[in-house]
Amino acid sequence: MTAPTGLRVEHRDEPLGITTRQPRLSWHLPAGSRRQIAFQVRAALSDSDQVLWDTGRIESDQSLLVPYNGPALESGQRVNWTTRTWTERGRSEWSNPSWWEMGLLSRDDWLARFIEPVEDDDIKAGSPRPAYLFRRSFKLEHDFSAARLYASAHGIYEFFINGQRVGDMELTPGFTSYWSNLHVQTFDVTDLLQQGDNVLGAIVSDGWFRGQVSGARLTNIYGASIALLAQLNVYEANQTLTRIGTGPEWTCSTGHISEADLFQGQTVDLRATLRNWDSPMAQPRGWLPVTECDYDLARLVSSPAPPVRRVEELSPSTVTRLHPNRQVIDLGQNINGWVRLRNLGPEGTAISLTYGEALGKDGDVTTQHLMPDLDAPRYVQEPEFVNMTAPFQIDRVVSAGHPNECFEPRHTSHGFRYVRVEGHPETLTADDVSGVVVHTDLRRTGWFECSDDRINRLHEAAVWSFRGNACDIPTDCPTRERAGWTGDWQIFVSTAAFIYDVAGFSIKWLQDLTADQHDDGKVLHCAPETMSAEIMDKIGAPHGSAGWGDAAVIVPWEIYRAYEDRDLLADQWPSMAAWVDFATRMAREGRHESRVQQRPVAAAHEEFLWDTGFHWGEWLEPDEWSPDTIPRLGTADHGIVATAYLYYSARLLTRIAEILGRGSDVSRYRRLATAVRSAWQAEFIKPDGTLTSDTQASYVRALTFNLVPDELRPQVAKRLVELIREAGTHLRTGFLATPYLLPVLADTGYPEVAYELLFQDTEPSWLTMIDRGATTIWEDWRGTDEEGTPSLSLNHYSKGAVISFLHRYIAGIQLLDDGPAYKRFRINPTPGAGITHARADHDSPYGRITSAWHIHDDQFKLNVTVPPGTTAEVHLPDGARFDAEPGNHTYRQPHSATRTGR
Ligand code: BGC
Repeated sequence: MTAPTGLRVEHRDEPLGITTRQPRLSWHLPAGSRRQIAFQVRAALSDSDQVLWDTGRIESDQSLLVPYNGPALESGQRVNWTTRTWTERGRSEWSNPSWWEMGLLSRDDWLARFIEPVEDDDIKAGSPRPAYLFRRSFKLEHDFSAARLYASAHGIYEFFINGQRVGDMELTPGFTSYWSNLHVQTFDVTDLLQQGDNVLGAIVSDGWFRGQVSGARLTNIYGASIALLAQLNVYEANQTLTRIGTGPEWTCSTGHISEADLFQGQTVDLRATLRNWDSPMAQPRGWLPVTECDYDLARLVSSPAPPVRRVEELSPSTVTRLHPNRQVIDLGQNINGWVRLRNLGPEGTAISLTYGEALGKDGDVTTQHLMPDLDAPRYVQEPEFVNMTAPFQIDRVVSAGHPNECFEPRHTSHGFRYVRVEGHPETLTADDVSGVVVHTDLRRTGWFECSDDRINRLHEAAVWSFRGNACDIPTDCPTRERAGWTGDWQIFVSTAAFIYDVAGFSIKWLQDLTADQHDDGKVLHCAPETMSAEIMDKIGAPHGSAGWGDAAVIVPWEIYRAYEDRDLLADQWPSMAAWVDFATRMAREGRHESRVQQRPVAAAHEEFLWDTGFHWGEWLEPDEWSPDTIPRLGTADHGIVATAYLYYSARLLTRIAEILGRGSDVSRYRRLATAVRSAWQAEFIKPDGTLTSDTQASYVRALTFNLVPDELRPQVAKRLVELIREAGTHLRTGFLATPYLLPVLADTGYPEVAYELLFQDTEPSWLTMIDRGATTIWEDWRGTDEEGTPSLSLNHYSKGAVISFLHRYIAGIQLLDDGPAYKRFRINPTPGAGITHARADHDSPYGRITSAWHIHDDQFKLNVTVPPGTTAEVHLPDGARFDAEPGNHTYRQPHSATRTGR
């Protein structure tokens, strides 16, 4: 019989340098099997034949995240492991072996110290700043069998050994809440070293640590100095360990990168390149000593997420010469990353590259729509916001005139589809330039395709929007703000979890959300958060908004649903409970001004009404945006939204407490949820059954969160449909309710209305974006108007959550709350709108799920794949229901029996 496959450690494939002491192991059951009855895991240290850990036969159906439970592992140990299973078909073979390797686990493993360049105070204060080169030469006396480099930085680093770049990761060590979490990368550098003379070199730039961050483009958030930490561990053939770490022996210099900032761009003079600075041949002169700096090395850990990489390269679709000195490259796709330019012209040619998402009427690149509106927010004039209005996303390069010269800025990142090239003497061709797509190298897990091309393009645009916003953290946009807005990830995470494996990526982000959370439980707007409470007060948007802070509960919950990571729920419990307790206190302690006016003595239920504090509310309903939006939000009564989220989070917390076996919390949060729901009903449902806020978003939330009594649901759904019809069959939802709009219509008996909205192609609608040429999802419903004038960001994934409707309703693959990781799932396709075939595939933690249907000659035919270890309930459009075991299944029914066929 065949063996288990797909061996994984934590949420990674064969991770190098992890600092999780008891990594959890997962595998897929052998192909063709149905149910795991028992398993056995065997692990050995790579340099020994002796078994380190053998579980023996364990009676269990668990094949996901089984914790390593052998002897304590030490720094640098590499563990080979294999597994076999017993299923209904008997005992399997042992799987192909897999491995993981431990990183440096304790402060004592570090001989290295953080080193900084010596810089003038005015450099420390200004931005952008140069990148620094660090270097140290050394001799390896003996032959060696293996070598590892452990590295991190305050800033962004690239490492080189003997003139070769180390590894293929980008923007390392990534963006975290640095004073709490700093990540170390581990590289196998055995092949880069030689016996004899060697040189270690690194380029370090500002990155997120002290470069511009957030929409306010503040600098020096985590400190005024960049720093490097690196340690090379070389194992000689006799196992003697030689360690070479950053410290006083290192020297430092500036080089060819005179400016490097993630927002602003990178400026390079290739004539100033220090030849061979990182190779043993050179003995550079004039390099300066470094100073050591303090950082608690115990905080260094490996990242739970995969690294950022150059994931793909795109050839330009057109290059247009606007006038002799200016040409515009169109990649045909909005991405995050940079360009690689291979033709730099003769020596001294000064080229500038301006990256943008849109073209103005003149056919030239514009970034105007990404700049703050200067007439509006008062704070823009204050000194700390000085960078906010500076032009950005501009790279500059001066050619040295060498053959094969190439420019690729790897210390910045841009959101763009178009690049304006100035100063290049020749007209560029597709051979000269490519767009480099840069983001976290996530494993793709989900696909969708149907008979309607525009819907397929909408799906593509949403996938690209996510790719454009997965640069180490989930960002709102890759341009204007690049911030880990909690609301945006809360909205999109379940959609993302279908198309990519976002488990490690989300866990990493949650660690920062938790690190930045205030002691009173308040969750900040972004994770990591770079805007302090004082700054947000100045802007008039204090932290702690409903729908955004609820990410603390919703994100772990959705990750649990998609990947069955129960430990994540346990780890996040204090954070999520603190958030709900914070919101509960806010509800108890304050009353909104308007409510005090209307009802001087508080009604009893108001204790559970959350109507104070700052909230983003539904956010960006059509036509909502104006320069005074934020001041308006600051005084508005958001009770109907905030109380709804308090109920939803309290209910999720009850469920999570059940899963974690936290008995008293179950009853405590259940009581809270019940009281909050009653308060919401008492305050916001009018006697005639309509809501006090008669908006589509309010009805969508009422139904999705189950806020209205059962008997009112039909009436509430009917009112939602009326509002849609009154708007000419258009949506009028913003950020928070949009993902739920089509699902709730389908669930309450209006799938045709859901389809009408999906296919609506006049503004506001998703297909307006596609028809107006969007290749990523817009932030505002009017991202680009009829004239082609852009407004706000053109690459915000949140409204792209609509593609969940394609996965879960059109193709019909539905995750069930009591079947985490798709252990039990539903296939429930909802054909409609003349679509003649649709297909979705999802690589769940148990393996590939497929739902594919065709309508042909009045036959509705459905093919379903159920992976080993799972079961599915299959619902056909005519109402028939089947239970499906692992394997491939085909179902047929006359199309006329389906809802749309009728
Ligand atoms: C961001 C959003 C974010 C919002 C808060 C915006 O400026 O781009 O995506 O969620 O602020 O409402």
